[in-house]
Amino acid sequence: MLPLLLVLLTGAAPTVSASGDGCRVGCPLALAAYYFSDESNLTFIASIFGIADYTKLLPYNPDIADPNYIVTGYRVSVPFPCSCLGLPADPASTFLAGSFSYTLTGGGETYGDVASQFANLTTASWLAATNAHPAGKLPAAGKINVTVNCSCGDKRVSRRYGLFLTYPLWEGETFSSVAEHYGFSSRAQLELLRRFNPGMDGASGKGIVFIPVKDADSNYRPLESGAGTLLHFCEICFYIKAIKHRQAKLNGKASQAEGMKVDRSIEFSYEELSDATNNFSMEHKIGQGGFGSVYYAELRGEKAAIKKMDTKASQEFLAELKVLTRVHHSNLVRLIGYCVESCLFLVYEFIENGNLSQHLHGTGYEPLSWTSRVQIALDSARGLEYIHEHTVPVYVHRDIKSANILIDKDFRAKVADFGLTKLSEIGTTATSQSLPSRVVGTFGYMPPEYARYGEVSPKVDVYAFGIVLYELLSAKEAIVRSTEFTDAHGLAYLFEEALSMPNHKEALQELMDPRLGGDYPIDSVVKIAYLAKSCTHEEPRMRPTMRSVVVALMALSSKDHELTRGQD
Ligand SMILES: Nc1ncnc2c1ncn2[C@@H]1O[C@H](COP(=O)(O)OP(=O)(O)OP(=O)(O)O)[C@@H](O)[C@H]1O
Ligand SMILES: [Mg+2]
Repeated sequence: MLPLLLVLLTGAAPTVSASGDGCRVGCPLALAAYYFSDESNLTFIASIFGIADYTKLLPYNPDIADPNYIVTGYRVSVPFPCSCLGLPADPASTFLAGSFSYTLTGGGETYGDVASQFANLTTASWLAATNAHPAGKLPAAGKINVTVNCSCGDKRVSRRYGLFLTYPLWEGETFSSVAEHYGFSSRAQLELLRRFNPGMDGASGKGIVFIPVKDADSNYRPLESGAGTLLHFCEICFYIKAIKHRQAKLNGKASQAEGMKVDRSIEFSYEELSDATNNFSMEHKIGQGGFGSVYYAELRGEKAAIKKMDTKASQEFLAELKVLTRVHHSNLVRLIGYCVESCLFLVYEFIENGNLSQHLHGTGYEPLSWTSRVQIALDSARGLEYIHEHTVPVYVHRDIKSANILIDKDFRAKVADFGLTKLSEIGTTATSQSLPSRVVGTFGYMPPEYARYGEVSPKVDVYAFGIVLYELLSAKEAIVRSTEFTDAHGLAYLFEEALSMPNHKEALQELMDPRLGGDYPIDSVVKIAYLAKSCTHEEPRMRPTMRSVVVALMALSSKDHELTRGQD
C-alpha cells in the first residue's frame, strides 16, 4: 500500500507512479528545485544536502551569474543520488528518494521547522513517517533523517528522459504553469508530463511535480538502457500511436472550431488581403511602425492585423518566416501567415486592447491597476523567456519596448514582433525605406554593449525588459524629455538615483504613476525596482536571465495575491 501512503503523506501523487509501483533500483543523479527565499544562501542549501562546497551547485545552475545575487523565488537545482529506499516500518515497501542527515539545532525544532528548511521538498508528516521520534518537539541534539522524493524516469512513458527535477508547487503555481515554464507547453508535451505525473494535472499550490530536465550539455539525458528494451520499444510505439491518435482527434475537433488556428503556415493571396482591407484603405489602418503599416482585417472568420512591410522578401527570409509561424505561446502574438507580392505582408492574430505604451502614456484608457501591471510584467517575461530558451532556433527580440507588448481583452500581455529584427538581417531587399543592417531597436531601451558595439545576446532583451518594468511603475517614457530645468534622462537613471537615496521608499513613491493613486504595496514596488535595476545592469553578465526574472515575478505576484486576500 505504499503508493497510497505516500500520496496521503506528501500530497504528491506521482511520487511512486513516476518510478513504478515500488522501485527496485535508483539512479546516480536527480535534481531538487530549492525555492530561494530572502533568508536563503547557497552555502546553507549545499550543507543540508550533504554537499561540502556550494560551488558544486553552480554547474547545475548556469543561470546564476553571481552567487551573491540570486533573486527571491529562483529555484536552485540541487544534485543528489536518487536511491530506492524501504519504508522504516515496512522495508518491503520501496520508494525513490535522496536521503540526508539533518543536524538538529538544539532549539526545540519540530518536523515542520525541518521541512521548511528544505523548502517544501519534504513535509512534516513524511518526516514523522520516516523517523522514530514522535511528532512534537524534537530532541535538543542529534540528527534526523530527511528524504526527498525523486524520479529516475519511467520506461513505460518515454526512454528519452532519464534526469528529473523534483519540483514542489508553491502558492500561485499550477501544474500547467510549471510545465510551460520548463518548455512542456504543446499538447503532446503536456500529455507526456501528465503521464510522468499521474493525478497531478490541475494541481495548484501544493504537491510535487517531476520534470524531465536537460543536462549541463543542454541535452535531455536518456533513460539508462537496461533489460526489457525490446518489450519497451513496442510499448513506446504503442504510446506514440496513442498520442498521435488523440492528437489527430483533437486537431480534427479544433480545425472545425478554430478555422485557421491549426493551419500552421498560411500563404495568403494578395487579393484576399486587399479585399479584407478595402485595398489597404485608411479606415483599416491601425498603426505605423519602423517596418511598415498595420491594417485591421477579418480573414476567414478570424480577426487579424496585417503588417504591410516596406521590404521585399528573399528566399532565406521566407524559410525563416515558416519557422516563425510554428512558434506558439500564449504570451506571444501569433504569426498566422504571410503573402509575398510586390512587398511582404505578415498576418498576425489581432489583439484587441491596444499596446502597453498606449495604456501607460496615452489618453482614453483607464489606468491599469497594480495587479494588472504585475500580470503584464509576468506575461511579457514569460513570452521572452520562451523565445530565449524554448524555440528552435532561439531568438533575441532586440526591439522590446512597451509599444511591442500588446494587451488583450482580459488584460493579459503578448509580445509582438519577435523574429522581425532577425529577418531584417538575413537578406531582405528594401524598397521605399531601407532597414538598418545591424543595430535594430529603439532609443531608451538599448543596452550600452548593443548600442555601442552591436553585441547581441538575450541580455539585450533583459535590459529592455528592465526599462519596461520601470515604465510599468512610473508610466514615464523610456527617455524622460528635458524641461527648462533638467536634461533628458533615461528612465533607469531616475530610478537608480531614487534607489540610492537613504529614504528610497519615499523617493520611489515620487516616481510612481500618479494614476495608481497610491494603491500599491510599496514593498513590491521596491522589489520590482531592484529587479529592474538588475535587468539594466551595465554589464550584460550581471543581468539575470529571463527565466530568473519570471521566477522572481511569479513569487512577487503570489505574495501580492496573499496580501490582497489578507485584506478581504
Ligand atoms: N497583432 C496586432 N494586433 C493589434 N494591433 C497591432 C498588432 N500588431 C501591431 N499592432 C498595432 O499597430 C501599431 C503599429 O505596430 P508596429 O509594430 O508596426 O509599430 P511599433 O510597434 O510602434 O514599432 P516597431 O516597428 O518598432 O515594432 C501599434 O500601435 C500596435 O499596437
Ligand atoms: Mg511593433
